[in-house]
Amino acid sequence: MSYQIAIDGPAGAGKSTIAKKVAETKKFIYVDTGAMYRAMAYFMLINKVNPADASTIEAKCTQADITISYENGEQVVLLNGENVNAHLRTEEVGNMASVTSKNPRVRERLTVLQKELAEKNDVVMDGRDIGTCVLPNADVKVYLTASAGVRAKRRYDELAAKGENCDIAKIEEDIVKRDEQDMNREIAPLKQTEDAVLIDSSCMTVEEVVQAILELCK
Ligand code: DC
Repeated sequence: MSYQIAIDGPAGAGKSTIAKKVAETKKFIYVDTGAMYRAMAYFMLINKVNPADASTIEAKCTQADITISYENGEQVVLLNGENVNAHLRTEEVGNMASVTSKNPRVRERLTVLQKELAEKNDVVMDGRDIGTCVLPNADVKVYLTASAGVRAKRRYDELAAKGENCDIAKIEEDIVKRDEQDMNREIAPLKQTEDAVLIDSSCMTVEEVVQAILELCK
């Protein structure tokens, strides 16, 4: 049996930074499921699919073959065989992912792949529905959150460091809207399961959060 660490939480809570470090320490693979949903959203954007058109999203998603591989320990997302990592971290793709991930066909396709990865490997997997749907029997479940203001500031710093022009108030507005969509959708909404440990990272360093999760694995 593989060892499974599930980390769920809202946008900008620091899941990927933390999950990557936990995976490095444990020598597990890290699976960023948000990147898979982003790859699907990117596919919809380049195909000019209207986010409000659920039936086209449903039909089109069968043409998107999304897989992951690893290069020097980094997850690479392949969309129809092409590495799309460079296109995934924009606000446009993130906002589209929050909409397209509501679609049941999209979720079905990506959930199958995520379960397979966790069956074959010891994993740290992060997302919105890992503890609830993808890995309901995970060995460790964490619900990682932070205040919307702190999350917006982190996202702002991340984008500013890449030289992107951004407005922190707009980022916070997007974060609140995305929380609302992710937590209230019909299928696999973001929520804390009873067996998940709540970690609020608003006033914690990355190292403190990583240590707290490693403690849970003992
Ligand atoms: O974590 P992220 O910002 O990269 O995720 C982008 C979007 O993908 C997010 O708004 C909701 C969706 N998502 C999801 O529905 N289920 C997951 N397991 C991961 C992400």
